[in-house]
Amino acid sequence: SITRHYKFDIKMQNVTRLCHTRSIATVNGRFPGPKIVAREGDRVIVRVVNHVKNNVTIHWHGVRQLRTGWADGPAYMTQCPIQTGQSYVYNFTILAQRGTLFWHAHISWMRVTLYGPIVILPKRGVPYPFAKPYKEIPIIFGEWFNVDTEAVIAQALRTGAGPNVSDAYTINGLPGPLYNCSKADTFKLKVKPGKTYLLRMINAALNDELFFSIADHNLTVVEVDAIYTKPFNSDIVLITPGQTTNVLLQTKPSLPSATFLMAARPYATGLGTFDNTTTAGLLEYLPPTFSLPSTLAENLALLKPTLPSLNDTAFAASFSSKVRSLANAQFPANVPQTVDRRFYFTVGLGTSPCPRNQTCQGPNGTKFAASVNNISFALPSTPLLESHFLGQSKGVYTTDFPNNPPFPFNYTGTPPNNTLVTNGTKVVVLPFNTSVELVMQDTSIQGAESHPLHLHGYNFFVVGRGSGNYDASKDPAKFNLADPIEMNTVGVPAGGWVAIRFRADNPGVWFMHCHLDVHTSWGLGMAWAVNDGLLPSQKLLPPPSDLPKC
Ligand code: C2O
Repeated sequence: SITRHYKFDIKMQNVTRLCHTRSIATVNGRFPGPKIVAREGDRVIVRVVNHVKNNVTIHWHGVRQLRTGWADGPAYMTQCPIQTGQSYVYNFTILAQRGTLFWHAHISWMRVTLYGPIVILPKRGVPYPFAKPYKEIPIIFGEWFNVDTEAVIAQALRTGAGPNVSDAYTINGLPGPLYNCSKADTFKLKVKPGKTYLLRMINAALNDELFFSIADHNLTVVEVDAIYTKPFNSDIVLITPGQTTNVLLQTKPSLPSATFLMAARPYATGLGTFDNTTTAGLLEYLPPTFSLPSTLAENLALLKPTLPSLNDTAFAASFSSKVRSLANAQFPANVPQTVDRRFYFTVGLGTSPCPRNQTCQGPNGTKFAASVNNISFALPSTPLLESHFLGQSKGVYTTDFPNNPPFPFNYTGTPPNNTLVTNGTKVVVLPFNTSVELVMQDTSIQGAESHPLHLHGYNFFVVGRGSGNYDASKDPAKFNLADPIEMNTVGVPAGGWVAIRFRADNPGVWFMHCHLDVHTSWGLGMAWAVNDGLLPSQKLLPPPSDLPKC
């Protein structure tokens, strides 16, 4: 294994999409940002220099960061932000992981433009568990706003109302021909007939789960969140923000020149506002003999994929149930078979009493708040990891995060007028190596909504999933402890629940939150503080000397 060095200069750059030119934060002037490539076992060193006026941090989403929580990146969780003119070196080793992940800014909504792929190749000489693809292509989904997103979220937090939605979804930064003034900004995947391509798909969108499909082509899912899956075919893929999915695309045996649309649009449950438009790219067989028609009507005549309807929860459930770990001798699924601690968390939107002298836009004049177990997570001003490492939690966080919902109600029925959400910075403390089972129950006050929950520092096994309220007396009997998929981000189904297991073998403080940024901003998150083990190899490493100060 080797050490790979990268330099990320965070700087402003003019970028034009949909006929709007904006100065946006970029890495090295590129949008989307550069790709990080490493092999399993390599050390990665990224020097990040901040040349913009906003504070930044970078998160290596899905990288386990064994004992190196200081390099994880979420602002005020594991580090103070990198301020204007300052720098920080992220230094971590990629252990026992290979596949597609991504990096993104992890402060406020800065990740809307600061993101890029991470490709972890297997160790030299170790093949994929599928035929070697002819080519590998990153496909990264994002969102484009014609306006300044920091202003959008600031206003949403001030008024408690839903934020403005984006103006376009994008494929590799490009909205595609179905949007006005966007024909030139279309991603083109040029392919040869009769070949296998590996598409490394990443959902870096801020606030929407997406369906993706390529007209008249089948996709074979082979990996999710950098874990090999039992391969399965599907013409449509569901990918939530924070998830990565590798698919094999087999091109047609001989079709000398033809073009097909690939497209993605939201899977949007709940009654909130969302952008129901579609980003599209072209799958172009070489040699190209085709140029994009000039009008939308002609565009629609292109062979276009069929995507499920926006709220197709049945499709989402059936797709998710097909995702299983490879679980063979070479890649066993080490599912914890016994459990030391059980938790039951409600995740969703809720309401708290409207503070006096404020007008609130929640139901019955209440204040909207997203929460886990009725606690709306408040970011501290001292990073949690620092307080935990120094043993100085006083005034920063408390350790009384509830194991179970403090005010139970019928989570998938008519909710109470007030779900009694309070603000707090509360963590669950876990002894090293605790085997954890966590059931996350979707709740909602305005129609059920799916939430992609992301856990930092870990992969977890998705052992169960169902609709309605979780029933602790019946549901565990149906858990899959043989080949459940291992993930870092799981969609908690709209009007349902999901059960995960993980072993707390990575000391540090680890954020768990909804990867819809608006929900994180509203407080849908919590943290696990995992203590050191007894052996030296089970302890969090000391902080690097250039760790930013607040
Ligand atoms: Cu990809 Cu805490 O985030």
